[in-house]
Amino acid sequence: MPESQAAGAPPAIALHHLVRTFRGHGAEVRALAGVSLKVAAGEVFGIVGRSGAGKSTLLRCVNLLERPDSGSVRVLGEELTALDEAALRRARRGIGMVFQHFNLLSSRTVAGNVAFPLEIAGIGRAEREARVAEVLPLVGLEGKRDAYPAQLSGGQKQRVGIARALASRPRVLLCDEATSALDPETTGEILALIRSLKDRLDLTVLLITHEMAVVKAICDRVAVMEAGAVIEEGRVFDVFTRPQHATTRRFVSEVIGHVVPPGTVARLPPPGEGEERRLLQVLFAGPSSTRAVVSEASRRYGVDLNIVSGRIDEIAGEPYGLMALAAYGAPPAVENTVNWMRDLGLDVADIGPETLEHAA
Ligand SMILES: Nc1ncnc2c1ncn2[C@@H]1O[C@H](COP(=O)(O)OP(=O)(O)OP(=O)(O)O)[C@@H](O)[C@H]1O
Ligand SMILES: [Mg+2]
Repeated sequence: MPESQAAGAPPAIALHHLVRTFRGHGAEVRALAGVSLKVAAGEVFGIVGRSGAGKSTLLRCVNLLERPDSGSVRVLGEELTALDEAALRRARRGIGMVFQHFNLLSSRTVAGNVAFPLEIAGIGRAEREARVAEVLPLVGLEGKRDAYPAQLSGGQKQRVGIARALASRPRVLLCDEATSALDPETTGEILALIRSLKDRLDLTVLLITHEMAVVKAICDRVAVMEAGAVIEEGRVFDVFTRPQHATTRRFVSEVIGHVVPPGTVARLPPPGEGEERRLLQVLFAGPSSTRAVVSEASRRYGVDLNIVSGRIDEIAGEPYGLMALAAYGAPPAVENTVNWMRDLGLDVADIGPETLEHAA
């Protein structure tokens, strides 16, 4: 948790009960059905959800590019929905935005693109040039000042997009699928850049993505949206390791991976006479010794614990291990084993047909 949040500082972004309905040809789409969200200062907050879930509508409400039908939008302590046009323009300078398709002007150089919003804001030439000189090195483009977008790679174009967003010295950065048009390696570079800019410039970042790998790489907290509502929200580590909602589980399984390869399960020996076979998923948060647990459980309770699969990884810098075990033994012994592991603080869940089906 960022220090500023722990210290009880007001959130950088506080959305309260946002509703936004679009009326098409007779049909009505409720893009936001009452969304509330708080993003702490200094946090990288991710929003995930399937296409049409309302993510972009929500993000655009944060700078009132989209005006909600009702609800409150507080950014940096200011209620944006109450501002007049002039005050809103001023407030928007504190909120930078980065887009999926960069939205660069092809007829302008890198410097010209970065300076463009400053021009619109009526900032004079000398100040504009100073800002361009300030932000281009931040994104590693000091040598590309006079290049045109057509001469740049996708990653470089997005660096221009980020520099343009930073030119007004914002405190909040909104990113709508900022890496979705980039290859995985470039995605990694841009995410690392956003994370380091956040630290260096003391930014709060709210980003949309449909890729859980992006969330895993740079977010502190995440909200999952479905049909205009937030269905789950929490620290990335918690949401990834203990997803509550079926939709979240599906998203998370993209990156956590399939703990149980279906073929492996099919090849497991059947339980012996008077025994049961129980498939368990065991989550180790932190660097616990998995092997010690397995061998000690066997000694204590006389069960056989077969490691079916396992992996160790990191989420948001925290290590975790996920292991699938097949436990063989008399039902009470297996039950005792599970309870003992839970008493040790391990997260133990039965692997039901749902997980197996998903793996298939
Ligand atoms: N200007 C608009 N006019 C009419 N309907 C809209 C408009 N903007 C969004 N919608 C509808 O609102 C819903 C939410 O759209 P939104 O763009 O916020 O989804 P999203 O989660 O960003 O999706 P994607 O992942 O595809 O970008 C969709 O059903 C969409 O069709
Ligand atoms: Mg969108």
